[in-house]
Amino acid sequence: MREANVYSEIVPHTVTAEQIAARNPVGIVLSGGPSSVYEEGAPALNPGILDLGVPVLGICYGFQAMAQQLGGEVAHTGRREYGSTAVTVTSGGSLLDGIPADQTAWMSHGDSVARAPEGFEVLASSDATPVAAFASDERKLYGVQWHPEVKHSPYGQRVIENFLHRAAGIPGDWNSGSVIAEQVERIRAQIGDARVICGLSGGVDSAVAAALVQRAVGDQLTCVFVDHGLLRKDEARQVQEDYVAATGVRLVTVDAADRFLDALAGVSDPEQKRKIIGREFIRTFEDAAEALVLEAKAEGDSIRFLVQGTLYPDVVESGGGTGTANIKSHHNVGGLPEDLKFELVEPLRTLFKDEVRAIGRELGLPEVIVARQPFPGPGLGIRIVGEVTRERLDLLRDADAIVRAELTAAGLDAEIWQCPVVLLADVRSVGVQGDGRTYGHPIVLRPVSSEDAMTADWTRVPYEVLARVSNRITNEVAGVNRVVLDVTSKPPGTIEWE
Ligand code: XMP
Repeated sequence: MREANVYSEIVPHTVTAEQIAARNPVGIVLSGGPSSVYEEGAPALNPGILDLGVPVLGICYGFQAMAQQLGGEVAHTGRREYGSTAVTVTSGGSLLDGIPADQTAWMSHGDSVARAPEGFEVLASSDATPVAAFASDERKLYGVQWHPEVKHSPYGQRVIENFLHRAAGIPGDWNSGSVIAEQVERIRAQIGDARVICGLSGGVDSAVAAALVQRAVGDQLTCVFVDHGLLRKDEARQVQEDYVAATGVRLVTVDAADRFLDALAGVSDPEQKRKIIGREFIRTFEDAAEALVLEAKAEGDSIRFLVQGTLYPDVVESGGGTGTANIKSHHNVGGLPEDLKFELVEPLRTLFKDEVRAIGRELGLPEVIVARQPFPGPGLGIRIVGEVTRERLDLLRDADAIVRAELTAAGLDAEIWQCPVVLLADVRSVGVQGDGRTYGHPIVLRPVSSEDAMTADWTRVPYEVLARVSNRITNEVAGVNRVVLDVTSKPPGTIEWE
């Protein structure tokens, strides 16, 4: 729906008709789900929802629940349809307008609608399903048995757009520009003339969140960038120079590399390293925040708000929590002292990652930041297997920069979710470089393709590209005499090595 430029939100099926009405929607979609309407405890459809006078589209289970609610018949036929399925459109109507009579769509269901509710027109059928789509233009109620929202339904997006634009008459006027205008208004209303701080990590979410707040309240915002010395080549400079030039944000950088390296000295265990980096990060941010609070106090002011780059998937996964929280719940910043309580400003709470990137571009942020691959909070600290030292970080940064440059030059950025480059500092192997024997470290390439990092597969990077990367690293990075490729999917391997 958002791809059709219509703003949408996800609510649980337990929401009441009154709660829905209170949000004043222009359309409702009932999603699919794994249940059978005959199962005990199956998600029930609150009948009031169909009487709100708001156009409704039911998908798969939502379609069946609608059929049952409206007096149609849902049958346990024992005939499952799963996967790409031939569908015959018998009568297009507004919902299936422009969709060929014979086409395929993605199905995944056991029960079927055997009879449409009275007053409904049957629009399509399949081998196993006499009623694969129905409509009542009069009541503005529609349903399809297949899944229009998946890539495997070639005309799926057309169904969604037909429902939104034709059946429900909703204009497609939601876009990056309208989001920026709306968020700027909201942020101004929330913050008023108070002061606000934001922790920048160098990643896209905090960068875009801070840029929006800057657009809304200008110098009331101060950003804190904790440079832990574990970022990749040029990333700290990109934040301090390119990002600041693009946004005009007031930035305080804390150069904490020594502090982190001292704390990490002698530590090889991955969990220990993660804990130390997390702890030092909190302490460093806490010190910087406290200094800013004192500065504000001296000027007779206070800092009331903290910006956080929470995205919509986090909100949905955590059950849609409320908009204010003690800073302790911040997963990147962690527990600040009790007396440092801030109200949260979360301008990306309703957005997905690709939308955040689009907004970042619209706000004029540097492409290197907007297009950045996911990078873990503990940074290169968990990409050195062994103790983290300044020399090893420099070596890894050089190798990583070569990999990134070559993958980008080969046009592989869209295909690769991320490519950790790992230094096996505890491993040495014999090599021959120049005319002499070397005893150096291996570098591991871990290119992965993924939708959401929960699962991943190793990316089949062309051999020529791998050869170039290997040649360049072994020639240009002293101390490395071997480049190896990780060909493990996730599971069983995680994406990062530590
Ligand atoms: P794994 O290694 O668990 O990684 O397969 C999944 C995704 O999460 C990233 N990652 C992290 N991100 N803090 C973060 O912000 C962390 O401590 C952390 N550890 C892993 C990883 O880069 C991958 O995208």
